Amino acid sequence: MGKTRLVLSFCFIVILAIPMAQCAELGPKAVEEWFEKLPHAKQKLTKFHFYYHDVVSGKNPTAITIAQPNTTAKPPIYFGIVDMIDDKLTVGPDPNSTIVGRAQGFYGSADQNEFSLLMTLNFVFTSGEYNGSTLSMLGRNPLFHQYREMPVIGGSGVFRLAQGIATANTCWFNTTSGDAVVEYHIMVLHYE
Ligand SMILES: *[C@@H]1O[C@H](CO)[C@@H](O)[C@H](O)[C@H]1NC(C)=O
Ligand SMILES: *[C@@H]1O[C@H](CO)[C@@H](O)[C@H](O)[C@H]1NC(C)=O
Ligand SMILES: *[C@@H]1O[C@H](CO)[C@@H](O)[C@H](O)[C@H]1NC(C)=O
Ligand SMILES: *[C@@H]1O[C@H](CO)[C@@H](O)[C@H](O)[C@H]1NC(C)=O
Repeated sequence: MGKTRLVLSFCFIVILAIPMAQCAELGPKAVEEWFEKLPHAKQKLTKFHFYYHDVVSGKNPTAITIAQPNTTAKPPIYFGIVDMIDDKLTVGPDPNSTIVGRAQGFYGSADQNEFSLLMTLNFVFTSGEYNGSTLSMLGRNPLFHQYREMPVIGGSGVFRLAQGIATANTCWFNTTSGDAVVEYHIMVLHYE
């Protein structure tokens, strides 16, 4: 009997320990407990580096125009145009390199004097220790500047109450098709 109990509790620990080590527990009770422990939680810095593939052309675009005014959405600024995206994020600039997540949300041309986007999206991680966790970014993206800095304003899962900065720079842009590969560096503060 003692032996059985030992074996059972061992399995219990193993089963629980794997998901707990890799991702945050979900559900209202788990979130409440997480907040109760917050005063003792340590802040940590996590750095990300990945490539974002914005595919607007071809048979399988991952960015599609969902709204545009018939008056102002003209080159070179396209003021008022809005695209919904589900762009893949990969470890390298090659579109076939390992996928780490998706950028899901929308962007719209929001400046009447230069081509600049309002970015409203979630980075949804689909691999490794961040699988299932998200970071939310809201910022201004003047596409033709070398470095664009955008705030990371929150997150879910292991990134609850996260804050950070994303820096984007375009590493490849096809002016004919409009497809782009953008390098992202993200520095984010969150809790252990
Ligand atoms: C834009 O659409 C509105 C509403 O359909 C229409 O009244 C207007 O004439 C259009 N303007 C142009 C420049 O096509
Ligand atoms: C990526 O993979 C697809 C299908 O496997 C292939 O057709 C394409 O040429 C590859 N692209 C690159 C840049 O290697
Ligand atoms: C990520 O999590 C999903 C859902 O929990 C699971 O189906 C998937 O296999 C996981 N992927 C990896 C690479 O761990
Ligand atoms: C750029 O896009 C055009 C139009 O889709 C395509 O014909 C061309 O091959 C692309 N250039 C590169 C370098 O991929």
